[in-house]
Amino acid sequence: MLDSILACPRCDNALTPTDGGHACGGCQVDFPSIAGIPFLFAEPSAALGEWRARLHMETRRLDHEVRLIEAALDAPDLRDSTRRRLTLMQHAYRDHNERLLALLEPLGLVELEANIESYLALRTRLPGDQGLVTYYPNVHRDWSWGERENEASADLVTDMLDQPLGKMLVLGAGPARLACDLHDRLTPELTVALDFNPMFMLLAQRLLRGETVELYEFPIAPSSIENSAVLRTLQAEAPVTGEFELVIADAARAPFLNGSFDTIITPWVTDILPSDIAETAARINHLLRDDGQWVNFGSLAFDNADPGKRYSREEVVEIVAAQGFTTPHVDETRIPYMCSPASRHGRQETVVTFAARKTKQAKRTARYEALPNWLVKGDAPVPLSDSLRMQATSTRIHAFVMSLIDGKRSIKDMAKLMEAQQLMTQHEAVPTIRTFLIKMLEASGRGVGPP
Ligand SMILES: C[S@@+](CC[C@H](N)C(=O)[O-])C[C@H]1O[C@@H](n2cnc3c(N)ncnc32)[C@H](O)[C@@H]1O
Repeated sequence: MLDSILACPRCDNALTPTDGGHACGGCQVDFPSIAGIPFLFAEPSAALGEWRARLHMETRRLDHEVRLIEAALDAPDLRDSTRRRLTLMQHAYRDHNERLLALLEPLGLVELEANIESYLALRTRLPGDQGLVTYYPNVHRDWSWGERENEASADLVTDMLDQPLGKMLVLGAGPARLACDLHDRLTPELTVALDFNPMFMLLAQRLLRGETVELYEFPIAPSSIENSAVLRTLQAEAPVTGEFELVIADAARAPFLNGSFDTIITPWVTDILPSDIAETAARINHLLRDDGQWVNFGSLAFDNADPGKRYSREEVVEIVAAQGFTTPHVDETRIPYMCSPASRHGRQETVVTFAARKTKQAKRTARYEALPNWLVKGDAPVPLSDSLRMQATSTRIHAFVMSLIDGKRSIKDMAKLMEAQQLMTQHEAVPTIRTFLIKMLEASGRGVGPP
């Protein structure tokens, strides 16, 4: 059933299944499958390269942490309890590294020719703030200790539905527990769980087949030494039945034909996508059939450089209604969030759930492009925006301060030189240099820490 609704993330036309995955005849691009999961980025080779690089970075980070621990273990007069904690962490980081590599092994098995130019031209670069382990704690909440939280989430979404799920898409599904719970409870005709992070999709694939996977949890505030790194057994209650599909792709270019879904769920994702919510709403509108339902669930914490786009709930309701939906029906409920039993950290979150039905076709939005023209083509002037101007000035000052560090000069000596260079007065320079050097000192002393 999935094949009949897949579309090319470059041109939106239907894809043809091939031996290794799918192909777009018009764009002449082959899209691979990773362990059988369609990998549908507009430029698959570059996206694969990026995820491999992210995996590599994560394994390097874990190696680095192991080396720091080795050095810490050599310290004289080490307390027994400190030694116990360090030894546990050292073993956990090493073991975790191997487990991660094993889980993501299918990423390395696909051969594709990288083509960075076309990647840039398509402007589909993955956001830099979304690493392989950015939402790693979700894995353990979803598939180990989070029964209460998971049930509360599935209840809230279920309560907002006002028609059968039909064909359901879950965008930004993470490790796919909510998608799985809704699928089990409400037996849709088809469930498609989409996320751009292959780690989540590969993990979900194994769990939904009924396998168990062991991965470490590294709680933010461990409640004991033993809880600093806990090897959790991740498991679904039973293998998934019925039509449940996983897709690795960018939600901003969701690779499906228009009108493919009866229901779209967006859990904890619309406020982190780089597109404006109006564009996201229009894209969701196109993916839904007439009268299809959209349920958005999670926080509404829009973090945008433009204050005009840090939307409140009231604004979101208006924006969604203006994109061919009924005025969303909204619920706000307080639920526990990320309360790991191994951590002292955990919160209560007032989650916003809204539901709206498609009433008419929204206007077409431009295809999502991550990078502006002046960056891609390189022949237009780099705009001197206020934020770039501010960054240029502070970078110049920081570079100058760094160049003054010679093991001899004091902060006051540096401040005099800053004044001589007409960068700022000595009076202003002393606290500025001090603040900057505090940051440098903290950065040099800070470990990389758990994911
Ligand atoms: C805050 S997590 C929420 C995960 C899950 N929906 C949940 O409720 O636990 C955000 C998820 O969106 C995914 N994500 C972020 N940007 C995405 C994009 N552009 N395309 C696809 N997935 C994306 C992340 O990988 C992550 O799994």
